[in-house]
Amino acid sequence: MPVATIDWKGDLPGRAVLVDQTLLPTQLEYLELGTAERMWEAIRALRVRGAPAIGIAAAYGLVLGVQSYKGDDRAAFAAEVARVDQYLRTSRPTAVNLFWALDRMVARHKAVASEPVEAQQRALLEEARAIHAEDKAICRAIGRHGARLVKEGTVALTHCNAGGLATADYGTALALFFKAHEEGRKFSVFADETRPLLQGARLTAWELEQAGIDVTLLCDSMAAVAMRDRKVSLVVVGADRIAANGDTANKIGTYGVATLAKAHDVPFYVAAPVSTFDLSIRDGKAIPIEERDPAEVRAGFGKVTAPEQVKVWNPAFDVTPHQLIAGIVTEHGILERPDAKRVADFFATHAPRHGTRGGTRDGRRSQ
Ligand code: MRU
Repeated sequence: MPVATIDWKGDLPGRAVLVDQTLLPTQLEYLELGTAERMWEAIRALRVRGAPAIGIAAAYGLVLGVQSYKGDDRAAFAAEVARVDQYLRTSRPTAVNLFWALDRMVARHKAVASEPVEAQQRALLEEARAIHAEDKAICRAIGRHGARLVKEGTVALTHCNAGGLATADYGTALALFFKAHEEGRKFSVFADETRPLLQGARLTAWELEQAGIDVTLLCDSMAAVAMRDRKVSLVVVGADRIAANGDTANKIGTYGVATLAKAHDVPFYVAAPVSTFDLSIRDGKAIPIEERDPAEVRAGFGKVTAPEQVKVWNPAFDVTPHQLIAGIVTEHGILERPDAKRVADFFATHAPRHGTRGGTRDGRRSQ
């Protein structure tokens, strides 16, 4: 991968280092963050973005927020952990990985709460580092399981950015392309530009080009004609939250792409780690959808492109119904034609070590 999206520098106290994704592809700049407030702002402003990456960022954010606590008052330290945890949860609402990672940090804290404060701080850094390291392995496994979908001559289409920048490295949707490329197959990828914040144009096109993969950039409105006239044969996207019946929230525009794929008989796949499932949510209607500043639509990147006061609706995500999804590529394999039963069966077989939101170790739903 060309860059590491996120890293931890030093020991304790340390700093989180992030690629500022808002500046790509024209500037590759790293930010060093020393406080939970700066991490909150980085997540909110999409300096760090993509569901797995913001989970890792939130975990490091919790460490930043409590690392300078001095003294050995365990109750006061626990209150501080709870305060920073709640604060980070308000940064962005849709990607469940953020909540999953914070749940995991809080559980680790509970497990060591009787130890001296310094040992607790160390345990929290260890847990954040583990979440980070595991994501690298998970992305590689997603690539291994999904690469067979990318055949010699495949014409693929993807939306938003589910690449190395959105994860610890290697990506989810893009992992399939990276792995198929490493295996020597020739294929091409259309990258939707992804209005309004252009993650496809700025990040996906950049990452695929850097990897030497044949990529062509499209305005979002060109996806239909590309499917028909350029013979798109596969769609793969990432996910921000997957409900218990397989309904999947991803970047706004994904639902449109899935509908077009259905109309053109193109298989539509989602690639995501199991930490992106939220089994406490029965279906996609209950997934919280972030609505962002109208200025992103009226004056994207500082250029006014609409009447100053025009009403704008700016949901950042949409939900693709499971009926449109051919399969979900996870680190445990491909969950074909997801629905409530197949998702439950999948989790019964592959109980994730660190749980899944709303799920129990044996795959049953918790309420
Ligand atoms: O608003 P963003 O850029 O954080 O949205 C990101 C997406 O929708 C990605 O497709 C998703 O998080 C998967 S990242 C592996």
